[in-house]
Amino acid sequence: MAKGAVMLLVLFTVLSAVSEAHRPGNRALAHGRRPGADPAAPTHLHFYFHDSSRGASPSAMRVAGPANVPLQTLFGAVYVMDDPLTERPELGSAAVGRAQGVYIGADQTAMGFLQVMNLVLTSGPYNGSSLTVLGRNNPLADVREMPITGGTGAFRFARGYAQARTHTMDLKTGDANVEYNVYVMH
Ligand SMILES: *[C@@H]1O[C@H](CO)[C@@H](O)[C@H](O)[C@H]1NC(C)=O
Repeated sequence: MAKGAVMLLVLFTVLSAVSEAHRPGNRALAHGRRPGADPAAPTHLHFYFHDSSRGASPSAMRVAGPANVPLQTLFGAVYVMDDPLTERPELGSAAVGRAQGVYIGADQTAMGFLQVMNLVLTSGPYNGSSLTVLGRNNPLADVREMPITGGTGAFRFARGYAQARTHTMDLKTGDANVEYNVYVMH
């Protein structure tokens, strides 16, 4: 009886592993980590984020907020972005993905955004997968840390953090080039 139950359990485990591997769209999960990667070590992603509200097709724009937004804090201003992510600091370097989401002035005494965005990866081993960031971005600090709250594809069950460092910033226009280091368990 007990032996039969063990056999059934083994059979069930094998069958569910097979059906999991064959389920459409699960290729990314099966290849969730780079071959040979230490399962206890986070995956590290490094890229540059380009936020510009200038030109004919800006990648970030203010969509709501008070008419007289305080310039020191931008409290109450709501911005939407679809910002390119690149491998190197130059905008023309290899595209890695897009940062799509919103940032909202949410601090009345300093510049501090509530930033909610999906990092949608479009090349490399994680092409087609995404990570979700939800945190506080105080852009004038040297390093800002934001939690990774989840992900899709290779990043299902993701947990981790992103560190953002300003590479260059145009104080007149607010255009920013930001270096990101993302550490994620998945
Ligand atoms: C990323 O994946 C898409 C969809 O499979 C594919 O069309 C595209 O060529 C890939 N991009 C790169 C840079 O590998």
